[in-house]
Amino acid sequence: MICCVFLFIKCIDHESKNDISGIKYEQYAGSSTCINCHKAIYDSHVQTAHFLTSQRSDQKNIKGSFDPGQNTFSFKPNVYVAAEKRGALFYQVAYINGTEKMAQPFDITVGSGKRGQTFLFWRKNNLFQLPLTYFTSANQWTNSPGYSNKVVFNRPITSRCLECHSTYFEKISAEDSIKEDFSKTKIVYGVDCEKCHGPAAQHVDFHQKNPNEKKGRYIIDPRLFTREQSLESCRLCHGGKLTKSKPSFSFTAGDKLSDFFTMDTTNKAVADIDVHGNSYGRLIASQCFIKSQMTCNTCHNSHENETGKLAVFSQRCMGCHTEKNGNFCKEKAQVGNKIVQNCIDCHMPELPSKAIMVLLQGNDLPTSASMRSHFIAVYPEETKKYLLLNKMK
Ligand code: HEC
Ligand code: HEC
Ligand code: HEC
Ligand code: HEC
Ligand code: HEC
Ligand code: HEC
Ligand code: HEC
Repeated sequence: MICCVFLFIKCIDHESKNDISGIKYEQYAGSSTCINCHKAIYDSHVQTAHFLTSQRSDQKNIKGSFDPGQNTFSFKPNVYVAAEKRGALFYQVAYINGTEKMAQPFDITVGSGKRGQTFLFWRKNNLFQLPLTYFTSANQWTNSPGYSNKVVFNRPITSRCLECHSTYFEKISAEDSIKEDFSKTKIVYGVDCEKCHGPAAQHVDFHQKNPNEKKGRYIIDPRLFTREQSLESCRLCHGGKLTKSKPSFSFTAGDKLSDFFTMDTTNKAVADIDVHGNSYGRLIASQCFIKSQMTCNTCHNSHENETGKLAVFSQRCMGCHTEKNGNFCKEKAQVGNKIVQNCIDCHMPELPSKAIMVLLQGNDLPTSASMRSHFIAVYPEETKKYLLLNKMK
């Protein structure tokens, strides 16, 4: 069990940590309780893609259109699915030859909407994916991954999918049963505070009763992590496909991943590591990573949405690369002083994913989503593009 006086020690000490498979919903406090004592962090955290990555569906968080003319996707001639508002509720409705065949509600929204959103519905205690996914860059509905030209409502959602897109879902079926049943109420949506700091009900309870205590108790403090612990707390979800050897949701930040997953030890070429979902795999192949002690937190502030702030990220590069240190960019001669505003587009370009591709209405070939490459390197083609775009060549 995780909730004990020695919580902190247990989390750092790997040896004693193999018995922890049974985290329960009651051990979570929910981030709304953190506001009272950590207001600034809470206020910025709720704007992150992490916080928004799963939510109960509602009018505000579904980004796709319900307006006639923009609310459908055709799977083949005479077969289409429409996003429809009926009363206060939202549905995906399949039509064949103009006749309604099936309607299921939007129950859970997955994805902040930066790239796209996919939607889940409950059937008894099981979760399934709806056939329409929203693809942000095209502002269109499209077919959900795995749905080709058949409109079925039977793609089951597994606990591993939820483990990457939420903080906690309580599974109520036996671990070895093929169909996974979940509680509809014991859910902590989003990659929330307690995903990175561990279940915190005891922390909240203790500090409410002991308002004079200035030292944080019963809580995981990532500032005390080793480099490996820090990396693995992100790698759980940003390290590509991992095959679990323990139930989903039993890994807690600070744990050793290999106690919970069978690690893939084959040496993959960088080109074979997709930009989607594996920032870790690409980063660790970079010279920056190999020749320093960097972690994800060297560049990312977990509590803030810094998307698009390329000058801020460039400052973080210059935490190590400066003219004074003699390891600054040789391109400065070409680019001039403006170089400090954007190291990123030349050294961490957005590249197309081979894993996230969707077929847009009317197209024959699938369109890829592009993502930042974490393989930090010199990309001659990107330099050319940058110089052209900025009229430097
Ligand atoms: C009743 C007040 C109170 C509430 C509610 C509370 N905390 Fe804290 N927390 C503290 C105090 C006091 C500290 C120690 C001083 C500091 O770091 O701010 C602390 C420290 C922390 C730390 C830093 C670790 C450390 O050892 O100092 C983290 C992480 C943390 N809290 C997370 C949370 C999360 C997550 C929640 C909500 C689930 C939460 N806290 C709710 C009072 C509270
Ligand atoms: C429980 C799984 C999980 C963990 C743990 C996790 N992430 Fe994420 N992260 C995600 C998911 C899912 C997204 C995509 C969210 C979305 O847009 O819907 C994401 C998105 C991000 C983004 C992109 C934000 C943006 O604005 O586009 C960054 C940066 C990031 N994570 C960094 C980290 C770092 C650093 C850590 C470790 C301290 C970490 N993540 C831990 C699941 C996780
Ligand atoms: C994606 C992972 C992640 C999430 C989500 C997250 N944190 Fe943190 N938190 C961290 C990391 C990493 C650090 C250590 C940062 C550092 O090294 O300076 C930290 C540090 C802290 C600290 C101590 C340092 C400080 O800035 O006071 C507190 C308190 C804290 N977090 C509270 C929260 C609360 C409250 C939430 C939710 C509203 C939250 N965190 C969400 C990863 C996360
Ligand atoms: C190993 C962790 C992991 C698993 C498993 C996983 N995802 Fe993701 N997913 C991510 C990460 C990380 C991102 C953020 C983009 C990136 O880095 O590729 C993401 C992005 C997304 C997005 C786009 C979010 C946005 O707004 O840009 C959607 C939608 C999504 N995932 C849905 C799912 C669904 C549905 C499942 C299960 C059937 C699933 N994912 C399984 C980690 C995961
Ligand atoms: C924690 C320190 C650190 C940070 C932060 C850092 N780097 Fe590096 N980087 C290094 C080290 C160390 C090397 C190895 C070369 C050397 O010995 O100077 C390196 C190498 C490089 C190289 C040469 C790559 C190659 O394959 O030869 C490039 C390009 C580079 N960094 C760009 C960046 C950019 C862009 C950023 C920000 C996105 C960044 N670095 C952030 C430490 C860092
Ligand atoms: C216009 C594209 C472009 C921009 C912007 C850019 N770089 Fe570079 N960078 C390059 C190219 C091209 C090279 C290879 C130059 C060479 O070998 O002559 C390079 C080389 C490097 C190297 C390796 C130096 C060496 O030879 O050991 C580092 C480190 C580096 N850049 C860091 C940065 C940082 C930090 C920034 C932002 C302050 C930045 N770069 C901005 C294109 C760029
Ligand atoms: C050297 C700096 C640096 C390090 C270290 C770093 N990142 Fe990033 N990361 C960036 C930059 C720059 C971006 C692009 C930000 C943007 O375009 O808004 C980014 C973007 C992301 C995104 C969003 C990608 C997309 O295109 O949507 C994710 C997810 C992410 N980082 C996760 C991680 C994880 C996990 C780690 C550790 C394994 C990590 N990063 C380490 C600099 C870094």
